[in-house]
Amino acid sequence: MTKTSTINLAAELLKAGRLVAFPTETVYGLGANALDAKAVRRIFQAKGRPSTSPLIVHVSSRAMAKRVVAKWPPTAEKLAKQFWPGPLTLVLPKAKQVPTIVTAGLQTVGVRMPAHPIALALIRKTRLPLAAPSANRFTELSPVTAEQVTKGLGTAVDLVIDGGPSNVGIESTVLSLAGSTPILLRPGMITREHIEAIIGPIELAQNAKDGEAHASPGQHSRHYSPRTPLRLGAPSKPAGTVYLWWSKKRPAQFPIPMPADPAQYAAQLYDTLHRADELHAREIVIEPVPNTGQWDGIRDRLLRAATQTIIA
Ligand code: TXA
Ligand code: MG
Repeated sequence: MTKTSTINLAAELLKAGRLVAFPTETVYGLGANALDAKAVRRIFQAKGRPSTSPLIVHVSSRAMAKRVVAKWPPTAEKLAKQFWPGPLTLVLPKAKQVPTIVTAGLQTVGVRMPAHPIALALIRKTRLPLAAPSANRFTELSPVTAEQVTKGLGTAVDLVIDGGPSNVGIESTVLSLAGSTPILLRPGMITREHIEAIIGPIELAQNAKDGEAHASPGQHSRHYSPRTPLRLGAPSKPAGTVYLWWSKKRPAQFPIPMPADPAQYAAQLYDTLHRADELHAREIVIEPVPNTGQWDGIRDRLLRAATQTIIA
């Protein structure tokens, strides 16, 4: 368990407008006081991220969520009761006190309560909502360990809290409740089916329907990428290629076996990609994943990471 003194130091830094990277169950976040526009500007600088990309605000309770939004509809209450703390971000009309740099100028804000004891302890200690994107440079792979944060961001971050590997492994599901119909903006391990079981039918953002990059503002179709060229498809020329394979029929050379269970696959994906990237292979080839709802979030990240997609 991370020492109370680490949480105390991190909380002091955050209150002073500094950046602290902290673990969540999905990926590591690069946090700043969400109510301090100057501190939030530092996040964009550290990531090299365009200011057109809105940040998620992390809270430690539903009561705190209600303070950063202007409306809290019954659908939000039901979903938060069911899935928080957990990997679901709700997009709602923002409260006045949330600076527009957090929301990239939008009148809505993404809010989530992370299911990680260190993240929750930090938010409770500061008593502040924390704006935190994934703690990686813009377009690079999200970090799932403290070491990956340090490697990617270097001295741009004031403190990194090591909480071990993130166990969900891909970013949260993002659902907009800002309009008349709920819209799934980013698929994740809380699936469309999970959400519909609680609030009824939802819509998919237009390009999510096509299995392509989705409509969340500031999202770029090339994202979550390792440096090595990455292809989704069948095995080909073996020289210098590593394969990420979940089915039993693996390529003979350099296969990295992946779990056939989606939750376990997600938990290992980014760490495996970080490690595959360090092999300096010519190419990373990933076996396409099943076309079912439980794999939607994983398929989305793979399509974004891929430089080329050939599905046989
Ligand atoms: O699991 C996660 O969500 C992680 C951890 C750290 O919580 N965070 C994360 O943040 O993935 P980031 O900044 O890499 O992705 C934020 C996503 C983007 O797709 C962004 O477009 C969407 O949330 N988003 C945030 N605020 C939004 C808003 N007001 N309207 C629409 N989409 C929004
Ligand atoms: Mg990110």
